[in-house]
Amino acid sequence: MQPLLEVRELRTHFELGDGVVKAVDGVSLTVPRGRTLAVVGESGCGKSVTARSILRLVERPARIVGGQVLLYDDESGKEPLDLLAAKDKRLREVRWADIAMVFQEPMASLSLVHTIGDQIVEAVRLHENVGKQAARERAIEMLGRVGIPDPQRRVDAYPFELSGGMRQRAMIAMALSCRPRLLIADEPTTALDVTTQAQILDLLQDLQQEFGMAIMLITHDLGVAAQVADEVAVMYLGEVVEQGPASAVLSKPKHPYTQALVRSVPRLGASSQDRLVAVRGTVPPPYERPSGCRFHPRCDAFMTDKCDRIVPARVRSDEIDVACLLYGEGER
Ligand SMILES: Nc1ncnc2c1ncn2[C@@H]1O[C@H](COP(=O)(O)OP(=O)(O)OP(=O)(O)O)[C@@H](O)[C@H]1O
Ligand SMILES: [Mg+2]
Repeated sequence: MQPLLEVRELRTHFELGDGVVKAVDGVSLTVPRGRTLAVVGESGCGKSVTARSILRLVERPARIVGGQVLLYDDESGKEPLDLLAAKDKRLREVRWADIAMVFQEPMASLSLVHTIGDQIVEAVRLHENVGKQAARERAIEMLGRVGIPDPQRRVDAYPFELSGGMRQRAMIAMALSCRPRLLIADEPTTALDVTTQAQILDLLQDLQQEFGMAIMLITHDLGVAAQVADEVAVMYLGEVVEQGPASAVLSKPKHPYTQALVRSVPRLGASSQDRLVAVRGTVPPPYERPSGCRFHPRCDAFMTDKCDRIVPARVRSDEIDVACLLYGEGER
């Protein structure tokens, strides 16, 4: 089936005074329609910069220097819209209405001087031709749906009057109020306690069923990915090294990096002998990308004399797309 969103060879670089940090450097991934893609990888691998680049929400010194972000229409056959090439006006229409985003820190995206309700009403009315009262009713309904008690009253609350968990729910209500086709959620539960985290993940799954929306969930927690994802994309040093069905990627990962990640989580790698080994070595500094396969200096499967020279292309192995010379050659 045609995906909903396809990111091809996305490159977003930070152009700093003393060099260029290639934070996102050739990311390719697909978000299936109506399903959940989890994007996982160690801190600093470029997950958030990828998410922001999709909606062109990056600011200087970051700059999108290449790639395509293709949003496919429902009707098959119609040409996809490349969000990186779209006019600003068209992009503003896509934001919220087609693709909404929830950030890790809701205070960064909620206005402090407007009530929750006013912010939702404004977002809805920007994209749909509905009256103030109808939009307010939608806001109250959505606040109730995301589990905020007494939404008739809370709709008039300011963000600072809500607890962290309630603010995160309000942010999700706002993101969902325009019924987007894709919700991008960047670590939406990391700052929350375990119980609230579980409630929010359940909630996202319920709403996905109800609205049929796709979710791109960014998380560093493989347990969360195992719990909610249909597909998993694994990032390392600014690129996706592996994407495939969650069950396959998390139980029989192909890429040596994913294998090491999965082994480092005891619950997932239960069959492994050396359960608690983390991934060997450290992430190289951002200015110095290793040559060839970027993972080769830390790779236990490092076995070909080509790994430090050839940038592996993505190949299909079983149901998984993987960029590793173990599964086939072909230079990028
Ligand atoms: N403001 C900035 N200036 C320079 N470099 C930056 C800046 N923000 C991010 N980067 C670079 O981009 C890389 C990717 O950052 P990003 O926030 O996307 O990582 P992440 O995968 O979301 O990490 P985390 O799991 O910690 O949220 C970082 O390693 C850093 O080198
Ligand atoms: Mg991040």
